Amino acid sequence: MSLRKILLHPDPRLKKACEPVGDIDAGLRKLADDMLETMYDAPGVGLAAPQVGKVLRLFVMDFSAKESEPDPRVLFNPRFSWLSEELNTHEEGCLSIPDIYEDVTRSERVRMVYQNIDGVEVEEEFEGLGATCVQHELDHLDGKLFIDYLSAIKRGMITKKMKKLKKELARDT
Ligand code: NI
Repeated sequence: MSLRKILLHPDPRLKKACEPVGDIDAGLRKLADDMLETMYDAPGVGLAAPQVGKVLRLFVMDFSAKESEPDPRVLFNPRFSWLSEELNTHEEGCLSIPDIYEDVTRSERVRMVYQNIDGVEVEEEFEGLGATCVQHELDHLDGKLFIDYLSAIKRGMITKKMKKLKKELARDT
C-alpha cells in the first residue's frame, strides 16, 4: 500500500462527474487499499477517488467510533435506492477542505446499492454518521462538495482561504 496525494479545493478534478468502474481488478483493489491508507493517515472518515485525482465512481470510509475496531469499507459504483424524507443536520468536514467545518442538512437514513471489494452487489441501509458520510462521499463522485450547500458568500470566503493555504503550501515545498 502507498499514500496518495489528496487534492485540495479549488481543483477542477474535484468538480467532475466520475466514470463508473468496470471489472473490479487488482488495479482497482490496489487503488482502494491506497485510498484507505491515505484516509487513515490523514485522518478522516471518508475519501472519494476524485480526491486522489482518479475520476472514478469509488469511495472508501470508516465511520466506526475511535475506540472500536476499525471497519474499513470500499464502495464501487454506489447509488441510492432510497433516501428518507426525514432530515438531519450534522457538522461536516472534508480532507480536500482542511480545517473547515460547517452544518449540512441531508437525509437522516439512506439505502445504497454498491459493489463491494469482491465485486458483489449489495444493498445496505445507513443512518447517523454513516448516512451523512455516504451522502457526502457520493456527492464527490458527482463533482459536488459540502460547501456547495452553503451560501455563496460563505463558500466564497472558504474558497479564498483555501487558495491562500494552497499558495502557502506551494511555497513550503
Ligand atoms: Ni469530502
